Amino acid sequence: MSTTTIIGSQWGDEGKGKIADLLSEDADWVVRFNGGPNAGHTVVDEEGEFKFHHLPSASLHEGCKVLLGPGMVINPVGLVEELDQLQAKRGLKPEIFIGSRAHVITPYHPVLEVLEKSKEEVGTTGRGIGPTYQDKAARSGFRFMDLVKEDFEDRFRERLDRLKGIWGDPESLTDLDTSEFLDAVARLRELLSGDRLVNSSTLINAAIDGEEKVIFEGAQGSLLDIDMGTYPFVTSSNPTIGGIGTGAGVSPTRVERRIGVVKAYTTRVGKGPMPTENNEELGEWLREKGGEYGATTGRPRRCGPLDLVGLKFTTKLNDFTEIALTKLDVLSGLDEIKVANGYRLDGDKITEFPPSSEDLARCEPTYMTLGGWEEEVTDAKNLEDLPTAARDYVNFVEAELDVPVSIVSVGKKRSETIVR
Ligand code: IMP
Repeated sequence: MSTTTIIGSQWGDEGKGKIADLLSEDADWVVRFNGGPNAGHTVVDEEGEFKFHHLPSASLHEGCKVLLGPGMVINPVGLVEELDQLQAKRGLKPEIFIGSRAHVITPYHPVLEVLEKSKEEVGTTGRGIGPTYQDKAARSGFRFMDLVKEDFEDRFRERLDRLKGIWGDPESLTDLDTSEFLDAVARLRELLSGDRLVNSSTLINAAIDGEEKVIFEGAQGSLLDIDMGTYPFVTSSNPTIGGIGTGAGVSPTRVERRIGVVKAYTTRVGKGPMPTENNEELGEWLREKGGEYGATTGRPRRCGPLDLVGLKFTTKLNDFTEIALTKLDVLSGLDEIKVANGYRLDGDKITEFPPSSEDLARCEPTYMTLGGWEEEVTDAKNLEDLPTAARDYVNFVEAELDVPVSIVSVGKKRSETIVR
């Protein structure tokens, strides 16, 4: 099949980077459609580890074109740094295209995030994501088609002066250093000259018509979706399937393979309700064994058992056709594995993920217990190589979500993967 999407089914950090890297080996295009440098996609190959923030993980594959779609917010300084690093460390220069409608993260956006206290109150990544999407919705943002114009610097300074007035001239805005930003803008202008600033809808629909292999790489996770997630503890974009329509200009009906990435347990970084959060030994154990520290901010992630209530909700939301179950190896060594199969809300049993974060915070999960296994599973190449209890866990997830598990990740490396 020529069109695939990889979407996070929980609160992000499910291991999408590894799956995207794996599937994009022979892809013609990899398209990111939402978010920006709040994402941290880690890929480990023969040459070591590489962390991506703006660029899709497929940037490690020569010959694959990458598109930063119009639904993204992009920091010119961060993007230029990432491209430079890729060249310095790997000698790679990806063929990169940017949707002309994508919004620009300027130096004042992370400052506004601090002034608005969203870092404290929502636990955001501090990358200026929310304020940039806020400007987009308020129609005062800059798009990449503006960035390449001659009058961009004047317009940027006018907007900055206006913001200084609105916020009462705080030092963080009056002393803002803009030189690095304007240098990066100049470099991107050069990079984007020619045909690199594109109408993504035309380009990618034509690629699909021409039967090219296109992968849409989601960032964050479905439960962080601005509309469907645990608002207000969400990101400011749509990491769900609908984000492809608005964030790439391609109808989600054109995406044949919709892979939901499910981590074998649950994690969340930042604030907001997480019913299966475990603040005892289990949570700590998962964090250490799974290396659950943010790829972008280094923050420790909150950890706990798998939550089928949330997963059933996001499976329907995205109409997943396949599941990639990741980090199964982390569960080796547990005597038994708890899985939440429902919630109690004010004493009533519920099986639907509540739309209100206040309700969700009051939900007590109900658990069932499955058998654990001792053996390490990292060397498994087929499902048959797994201990029976691990195989049972995979089959259980498949049966509960009613979607085939087509990929099982049993280690960090590209090679440590079972493809069914
Ligand atoms: P923002 O996207 O920086 O505005 O942060 C909003 C919320 O989304 C915070 O709870 C972040 O921790 C979370 N978040 C944003 N990006 C990611 C990600 O890539 N993985 C996991 N959580 C994320």
